[in-house]
Amino acid sequence: MGISGKGFQRTVLKATIILIAVFASLLWISFKTDLIDSQSKALMNDYLSTLTSKNFSNNVLFKANEENVPGLRLCLGIFSQISSMDRRAMIRNEYTNMIKETAMKNDNVTLKFVVGIPSTREELDQVRLELLAYNDIEILPMPENMDEGKTTVFFQTFGENYVHYPIFDESAENNLRDKIMLDRDDFKTHYIETFELPGMLRYDEVQNYGKEYDFIAKVDDDTFVNIPYLLQNLRPLLGRKELYYGRDCCRKELLSESREFPYMCGFFYVVSPDLAFAVSHRREVLLPWEDVQMGYSVYKLNKTKNSIFEKSILTNVWQDPEHEAWSVARLRKNAIAVHNLKEPQVWLETAKWYRLTYAYRAQCNRIVSSKLRNQCNRAIFPIVDYIKLKNYEQAETTTDFLNV
Ligand SMILES: *[C@@H]1O[C@H](CO)[C@@H](O)[C@H](O)[C@H]1NC(C)=O
Ligand SMILES: *[C@@H]1O[C@H](CO)[C@@H](O)[C@H](O)[C@H]1NC(C)=O
Ligand SMILES: *[C@@H]1O[C@H](CO)[C@@H](O)[C@H](O)[C@H]1NC(C)=O
Repeated sequence: MGISGKGFQRTVLKATIILIAVFASLLWISFKTDLIDSQSKALMNDYLSTLTSKNFSNNVLFKANEENVPGLRLCLGIFSQISSMDRRAMIRNEYTNMIKETAMKNDNVTLKFVVGIPSTREELDQVRLELLAYNDIEILPMPENMDEGKTTVFFQTFGENYVHYPIFDESAENNLRDKIMLDRDDFKTHYIETFELPGMLRYDEVQNYGKEYDFIAKVDDDTFVNIPYLLQNLRPLLGRKELYYGRDCCRKELLSESREFPYMCGFFYVVSPDLAFAVSHRREVLLPWEDVQMGYSVYKLNKTKNSIFEKSILTNVWQDPEHEAWSVARLRKNAIAVHNLKEPQVWLETAKWYRLTYAYRAQCNRIVSSKLRNQCNRAIFPIVDYIKLKNYEQAETTTDFLNV
């Protein structure tokens, strides 16, 4: 061995100092806030040290006072495209676990991936297989699109006697349709065109809205939904008619006439089935943006009794196109939806962060002393893993210890 006894000791000492420094700076990043006192720091540290051995399956993360809770039936409509199979697999896996771990016993959260008519034989075969395996895809009777009325047609599928697209019928093989690419500069008012197969009803032949769900959510596939917090916030709204719930999204770049009415940002909003049904009957596409069109329909229908703007609890993670640097919005445990998670890795890290935060809080709930328990609940899982992501190297990252 080339290292003498003393040299070895020095190396160990140096390594120890470096380790301590690294650990201290990690702690500093994690806890640089006055909101968290030393006792909750200690609790968090204990928790973090056991984290590597954590196995979440069959864990109950967040199910307080289960007996007194009325069940809630939510359909989470995740807007996807047939080609995005990998993304669906990731989302399906994370949401399914999260629902299992956090929904109340009487809750029923149904995932539905919403896609248009297949454009090729390959897409048809693929979607047939995926549907057989998971039974969680809603194929709309219209070509794939973003702003050509996909939401309106999605809402029509909740009609009482709606007949779902018979993808396994031979007729589906002769009904392949190219995606619609909307040209905003050359936009003209027009009507939604659908391509029902034999046996299906048109929207105006559907009598009433179905009674399967209390809430219908429209979610983009680059949005992460904090499901337990969403359920908690929707529960008091059970039974409300004309519910239109989301983040007020009046974008400045829009024409002034589309700013005359409020609308919810398209990455995530929730409606009641009666409102979905009413909107599904408005077939004129007047505005080349899905969310603006939706707000316009609600406004024109005069069904604004329960338009609820949850501005403060929806977070947008966005990229500033001018500066080409990521601006990372703060992950907060009281965010219902986090948007613009384009890269799968970023979506997954966000999902992981929320699961860890809930797992950590479940630990807190086992503490008997209420004072300690409250202290424990005040801390959230540190954002360190998030910082490590390659796309966020030059990011301006902040740990937000906002309390619920
Ligand atoms: C987690 O626990 C479940 C059930 O106890 C077990 O089936 C599974 O293999 C475990 N997973 C890991 C990664 O240890
Ligand atoms: C949840 O709701 C869906 C849609 O109505 C239904 O098919 C399913 O059977 C329900 N699951 C439970 C456990 O009630
Ligand atoms: C809109 O609905 C409200 C009740 O929610 C009603 O009082 C009002 O008269 C309606 N306005 C129009 C223009 O129909």
